[in-house]
Amino acid sequence: MRVIIEADYDRMSFKAAEVVKGQVTKKPGCVLGLATGSTPIGLYKELIRMSREEGLDFSRVTTFNLDEYYGLGPEHDQSYRYFMEKNLFAELKTRPKKTHVPDGLAKDPETYCEQYEQMIKDAGGIDLQVLGIGRDGHIAFNEPSSSLGSRTRLKTLTEETIQDNARFFASLDEVPRFALTMGVATIFEARRCILMASGVKKAKVVHEAIEGPISSQVTASALQLHRDTIVVLDQEAGCELDRIDYYKHVERMRADLMEKKPAVASAAAV
Ligand code: PGA
Repeated sequence: MRVIIEADYDRMSFKAAEVVKGQVTKKPGCVLGLATGSTPIGLYKELIRMSREEGLDFSRVTTFNLDEYYGLGPEHDQSYRYFMEKNLFAELKTRPKKTHVPDGLAKDPETYCEQYEQMIKDAGGIDLQVLGIGRDGHIAFNEPSSSLGSRTRLKTLTEETIQDNARFFASLDEVPRFALTMGVATIFEARRCILMASGVKKAKVVHEAIEGPISSQVTASALQLHRDTIVVLDQEAGCELDRIDYYKHVERMRADLMEKKPAVASAAAV
């Protein structure tokens, strides 16, 4: 697990955008897994800038979003489909070839979730999955006690998540109580994951997820078993980590090696 700690939110967003850009440049027809929430907004702004000013081309990219509120249609201004259109897809110079967000109005959620899994497989699997983390340690809507072997399914949201997300709705009562979400095992199959976190409110859970035991109580901790996960934090989100000095040392050594011996650096697992 590579842990990158940037000075602030903007730098964290830029770093994450560099990783996405690297993926799209290397494989223009790649499959990106995308997330919603406050955290990735800066990343999406930077990708929009890269697409308009640097010609980063998304026209062959396929995307799959992690989750959607159950009961909200694409026109609802708090649906994740709406969020993605507003904050990324409609703003890119070239729209991705195909975008998928789970259908919050699916009549038969179980069958629909199986189909969503199949669509990911048919597209060749996810090359790079963008993730945020909830204060309860969730990735996507895999709330505490979600099986680490879980697949896409209907999930009951915790009170903490409902309260956290209430800021986007007119009242607490309007926040959906269920979501369709990729499972932990679905996420785990992505070839690379990038987990982002910002702000002091996330510091405790970031420490638990990265340095604590692997547990279904903090589903993000499952990423400790993933062979290629990059964690990108701002200073505040990283402030409770025990090994900050080592993570920073690794990044300095990596940069040094990249300068002196680029071939070794790109092959080395530092
Ligand atoms: P946030 O949500 O980016 O709005 O903090 C993250 C999450 O719940 O996964």
